[in-house]
Amino acid sequence: MKLMRTISRVADDLSLDTYVVGGFVRDKLLGIPTKDIDIVCVGDGIFLARKVAEALGQAGQVVVFKRFGTAMLKHGDVELEFVGARKESYATHSRKPIVENGTLADDQKRRDFTINALAVAINKDTFGTLVDPFDGMRDLEEKRIVTPLEPGKTFSDDPLRMLRALRFACQLDFEIDRTTFDGICRQARRIEIVSMERINVELNKIILTRMPSRGFKMMSTTGLLKYILPEIENLKGVDIINNRGHKDNFYHTLQVLDNLSENTDNLWLRWAAILHDVAKPATKRYTEESGWTFHGHDHVGARMVPRIFKRLKLPLDNKMKFVQKLVRLHLRPISLTNENITDSAVRRLLFDAGDDIDDLMMLCRADITSKNKDKVERYLSNYDMVYDKLREVEESDKLRNWQPPISGEVIMECFGIPPSREVGIIKDSIREAILDGHIPNNYNAAYEYMIREGERLGLEKA
Ligand code: CTP
Repeated sequence: MKLMRTISRVADDLSLDTYVVGGFVRDKLLGIPTKDIDIVCVGDGIFLARKVAEALGQAGQVVVFKRFGTAMLKHGDVELEFVGARKESYATHSRKPIVENGTLADDQKRRDFTINALAVAINKDTFGTLVDPFDGMRDLEEKRIVTPLEPGKTFSDDPLRMLRALRFACQLDFEIDRTTFDGICRQARRIEIVSMERINVELNKIILTRMPSRGFKMMSTTGLLKYILPEIENLKGVDIINNRGHKDNFYHTLQVLDNLSENTDNLWLRWAAILHDVAKPATKRYTEESGWTFHGHDHVGARMVPRIFKRLKLPLDNKMKFVQKLVRLHLRPISLTNENITDSAVRRLLFDAGDDIDDLMMLCRADITSKNKDKVERYLSNYDMVYDKLREVEESDKLRNWQPPISGEVIMECFGIPPSREVGIIKDSIREAILDGHIPNNYNAAYEYMIREGERLGLEKA
């Protein structure tokens, strides 16, 4: 409030009609905490920002975005964004908008949704007056996402708004108005002109909602998904041969994503759920003996992850590698439940998953989507068994982030050889012997084994 009063005083001194607008008003009315405040004034927004900064003792701290005509000021943990009210018009022969100064009403008209076009006056005389030309209050109450203008117009001004409509619907648990929804269906293709950097921000926000499947279903129904993530759209559908079908991998994937989302807000773990079966269409086969199979979809899927991340301009660092690893390993715990669990298979899984073993197990549990209660119980108790075994082996062998006890240097020194193929062969065989349980996981046993392996290769201890 103190901050608002200061802005109000400065705006009065400059005789500028000034309002808070957009997400801040919406979230305040919904009781959602927010730290971003958008301020619109009828006049020069950048000038107002500078004067407010002076009044707050923060002169010189305004960041101006000339191209957008906006100015940003950080005040404690609050981010203030100032803009002058604008109207936009398109010259008939050009797609480039001409941005002109406008009235508050002009500015509200060019916003994305009625619930984001609410403005509250902050000048002293009018302080707190709501300006709501599109009845955004009713839409807030009735939980509706609707464009202030005819949707074709609002979406062609910025096609990202189509995805934002879905994002707000998911975040706020609102419905998208029928006409607005139809508008998205009609213009879905225009999402192609929006940069992937902007798309992935909205997409990740959808993924982080309580029930992300809803966003994906809407993306698919509107037609947006095939432009954003065609690989997931392709999971849709069931083939039937000789009366034998397979499950619909689109709905299965969404169920896995929802199951997982009940237990974690880790965005990248959620991405692993989205992509875990992404290679099923590419690996699908039918034979009379086995029915439908998807052999190798774990490995093929893992290879697809970097391509998908690259296209979506998502990070290609450890986050992508984490997703890739989980996609590659997602069948491993299941395969452990199918056979008698051997210590060596458990050791290998621990070695391959490292610190991500708990996330992998969480994904695998979420992957159980059978409608058959008995089956679900059986699978879950199998996983409990695997989990116990993992803990047991981990406690005795400490294989998470494990490095074999003998390094290349020790091997070279022992046999008096330079870096060579032999060093690699010996190192690998020590690791395999430990993972297979042929020798215990300690230095002395590994050292003896190294000597034997060296001799097998015709090397002599130096
Ligand atoms: N806006 C718009 N069209 C866009 C993006 C934003 O009309 N493509 C307007 C809306 O009025 C919105 C405001 O700019 O409320 C601020 O945008 P932004 O910060 O992206 O969204 P918020 O509504 O504040 O919501 P959030 O903080 O959850 O992103």
